[in-house]
Amino acid sequence: MCGIFAYLNYLTPKSRHEVLDLLLNGLKRLEYRGYDSTGVAIDSPQANDIVMVKRCGKVKVLEDAIAEHFSGKEYDEPVMTHVGIAHTRWATHGVPCETNSHPQRSDDENSFVVVHNGIVTNYKDVKTFLEKRGYIFESDTDTEVIAKLVHHLWKKHPGYSFRELVEQVIQQLEGAFAIAIKSKHFPGECVASRRGSPLLVGIKTKTRLSTDHIPILYGKDEKSPQTCEKDTEAPKTKVLPRTESTSEFMPLEEKEVEYFFASDASAVIEHTNRVIYLEDDDVAAVRDGTLSIHRLKKCLDDPHAREITTLKMEIQQIMKGNYDYFMLKEIFEQPESVVNTMRGRVRFDSKSIVLGGIKDFIPEIKRCRRLMLIGCGTSYHSAVATRQLLEELTELPVMVELASDFLDRNTPIFRDDVCFFISQSGETADSLMALRYCKQRGALIVGITNTVGSSICRESHCGVHINAGPEIGVASTKAYTSQFISLVMFALVMSEDRLSLQQRRLEIIQALYELPDRIRQVLKLDIQVQELAKDLFQHKSLLIMGRGYNFATCLEGALKVKELTYMHSEGIMAGELKHGPLALIDDRMPVMMIVLRDPVYIKCINALQQVTSRKGCPIIICEEGDEETKSYSSRSLEIPRTVDCLQGILTVIPMQLLSYHIAVLRGCDVDCPRNLAKSVTVE
Ligand code: G6P
Repeated sequence: MCGIFAYLNYLTPKSRHEVLDLLLNGLKRLEYRGYDSTGVAIDSPQANDIVMVKRCGKVKVLEDAIAEHFSGKEYDEPVMTHVGIAHTRWATHGVPCETNSHPQRSDDENSFVVVHNGIVTNYKDVKTFLEKRGYIFESDTDTEVIAKLVHHLWKKHPGYSFRELVEQVIQQLEGAFAIAIKSKHFPGECVASRRGSPLLVGIKTKTRLSTDHIPILYGKDEKSPQTCEKDTEAPKTKVLPRTESTSEFMPLEEKEVEYFFASDASAVIEHTNRVIYLEDDDVAAVRDGTLSIHRLKKCLDDPHAREITTLKMEIQQIMKGNYDYFMLKEIFEQPESVVNTMRGRVRFDSKSIVLGGIKDFIPEIKRCRRLMLIGCGTSYHSAVATRQLLEELTELPVMVELASDFLDRNTPIFRDDVCFFISQSGETADSLMALRYCKQRGALIVGITNTVGSSICRESHCGVHINAGPEIGVASTKAYTSQFISLVMFALVMSEDRLSLQQRRLEIIQALYELPDRIRQVLKLDIQVQELAKDLFQHKSLLIMGRGYNFATCLEGALKVKELTYMHSEGIMAGELKHGPLALIDDRMPVMMIVLRDPVYIKCINALQQVTSRKGCPIIICEEGDEETKSYSSRSLEIPRTVDCLQGILTVIPMQLLSYHIAVLRGCDVDCPRNLAKSVTVE
């Protein structure tokens, strides 16, 4: 999904080359979100001008273009104050090309340039309005209307500040956005805002920050005297008041300061760990080195200030280390990431579990009518993987839903429902929309996310941070296993006082204790998996079959293969084999089958026999030392034994590795698969 990175240095001398390096580096950190084109805008050494460079393709292409474009000595001279904005675009309106890349501009003179993440749904109305006023559009993007609308308002209201202009503009926009804007008419200033798409401000100062929060400046109420000229043909005819400083206004004033505006924390962590997560409709403006946050209207429960958060993330966590790809690093991090998910929660000595983020809500959850687990992609699969255990340990009906389908169906939701929203990023638009839908209907909202400060975190009543650490590879791996464990821990909490379930709980807690070692054992299969990938990478299709606790691995394995290798792959419920998929089986169709010694073992063996008797030669994932099962095929992967409900964590790892190796052999971009985005912030 699009990535925004903007950098403002105030009284901190930096050459334009240094600024460009910072911008490019910021974009590299956002690459994982998925994108197809890039661009930057900086001040030109020629007074009062803005230069932009945009390119289709990777950040590296932009870097080469920048090296060529900005080669003069003047780019080495330090400037005391400067604003640069940069962007990675994931096409929604208009094909990936230079003209459609961001920054988008207001006019030939680059008066206002904007980078945007999200979709402006009423852009056609705004465009028509502006076209009638002589604006000529050059791109197919929805974003261009933002730049041109600021310009239009600036011409009409020459006395407005930059921040006031942006405030007027966002009132006219519908849909979702995060924006950062720069203007040659307001040098040294940057204004940013968000609604529905994430945006944060990083703050770097030489000395310790003088405050840990930024007061919010609210606009006058709408009945105050109108100071803006009425524009009856504006796309929305509402005339808006300007905002003015109130007595409580104490913006952040630092002598020498650098600000970073970014779509996520991984882009700023190497510069500063002090950030403010903006909320919907916040307008953050920097002028004369001073940051202030404004809102047009104050609602009853609105806070007085935005807190400056200290990020816990370490820079090493977002570096590739010795691995060729982030995805591989993240697969191999799983012995540690599962421990981080359990840290401080599973007490192995007392065999008890405490989930601090939901503990106060447990009595309410126990009284609910049903549990609903809602997510998209891999996060949805973590719900499929744990449903059976949740049903067993909570003795409640558990529904598992894809967020998009859930919304399409206008699913009935009741006040006594408990709805879990599972999302690595915490920003997935479909999941967020479904969350708001359930919240409006009075359900209790539990967020299961990996991103502290994300929209799903903030909008949930309570939740569990999965603490898997930053996940950069577009294809989710360690977040899946950590989501899985978070839901298992929840099931254990829910069954704490059920006497009849104590033996089962102890067995699971012991297996959780042993899990990191078991994962390490599975990771040793890497060489063997790589050999299997050599057999498979030229095929067109791969079927993955299993049932019970391992059905989710089939779905997740097939998703990984599709995402990374562009090969067709399907996760098949082994019980459904004879109802259709068996027709696909012959001696050439690649098949993987998960056959473990659990309650559905005999049924899995039946499916295995159905496949082999049609000349199928499946690759079997089975338990270590299970000679009988292995004898059905010449190729198998043996995984260590664990409790049935955690098998899915061990069986998914060979599938993660397999998709990785097939992708490498097919020459695919492992960390940024084509057409995909890490965080899908559009519906
Ligand atoms: C995108 C990603 C998937 C991910 C899904 C849900 O489609 O490519 O890997 O599983 O979004 O993302 P979330 O952040 O909500 O878990």
